[in-house]
Amino acid sequence: MTPADAPAVHLSGLRLDRGGRTILRGIDLTVPRGSITAVLGPSGSGKSTLLAALTGELPPAAGTVEVFGQPVPHGSRALLEMRKGIGVLLQGNGLLTDLTTAENVALPLRTHTKLPEALIRRLVDLKLNAVGLRAAADAYPRELSGGMARRVALARALALDPPLMLYDEPLTGLDPIASGVIMSLIQRLNDTLGLTSIIVSHHVHETLPIADQAVVIANGGLVFSGTSAELDATSDPLVRQFLRGEPDGPIAFDTVKRGEAA
Ligand SMILES: Nc1ncnc2c1ncn2[C@@H]1O[C@H](COP(=O)(O)OP(=O)(O)OP(=O)(O)O)[C@@H](O)[C@H]1O
Ligand SMILES: [Mg+2]
Repeated sequence: MTPADAPAVHLSGLRLDRGGRTILRGIDLTVPRGSITAVLGPSGSGKSTLLAALTGELPPAAGTVEVFGQPVPHGSRALLEMRKGIGVLLQGNGLLTDLTTAENVALPLRTHTKLPEALIRRLVDLKLNAVGLRAAADAYPRELSGGMARRVALARALALDPPLMLYDEPLTGLDPIASGVIMSLIQRLNDTLGLTSIIVSHHVHETLPIADQAVVIANGGLVFSGTSAELDATSDPLVRQFLRGEPDGPIAFDTVKRGEAA
């Protein structure tokens, strides 16, 4: 397979360790270009850890991580180059409080390109327009609602036109209306800009409707992979426990204890 027709993400036999402990093992996953994949799972199951492997922040302990057909490089200039092609919306927004909305969105463009100021302003304008926040260009983060701040962070993640977007808990702290706005925005951006999106979340009911594919992480591995409809229909007790949010069942409540005992 050439990189031109390779999937956006391909994980094979992936094992990820942190602090001397195996967090995830035996992960096989293909994310087709243009798709939206939901990565679901309980708190502490390793969802953010999986994203860290995609951005090259955490090297695999075993197996391979490929993004657009290329193995993710480590500790080099090549990694920095690859990272420009991945937009990340972090579990917090990470906006700089003493910069305006427009200045926050301009930051990646100023850091990673040598574009002239007029063009940077034009690009910032376009990105803010894409998230419906052109009017808030001169506002500071403290003047924005939670939902607006999340959209600014989204515009900033899109600044360099990355073909792959990673969202880590994009709904944290948002009310149902703001959550709906963010989810439909993620879907619209994915479709209109031809992106590939991976959404990590424990908000199952908000995330599944826009996902083409869903995977569930629990007990150190992938316990489900399929379409949203297949997930709804599964009778796997472990997956059902997670979907229903029940404390008792095959998913250990204290995953740290489970890891230590293993
Ligand atoms: N830097 C680190 N060093 C050591 N252990 C870590 C580190 N980061 C995470 N872990 C451990 O890895 C496991 C998975 O953490 P991770 O943050 O990936 O979970 P998560 O599924 O994203 O949880 P949440 O839904 O709460 O964000 C946890 O047991 C956590 O304690
Ligand atoms: Mg997390």
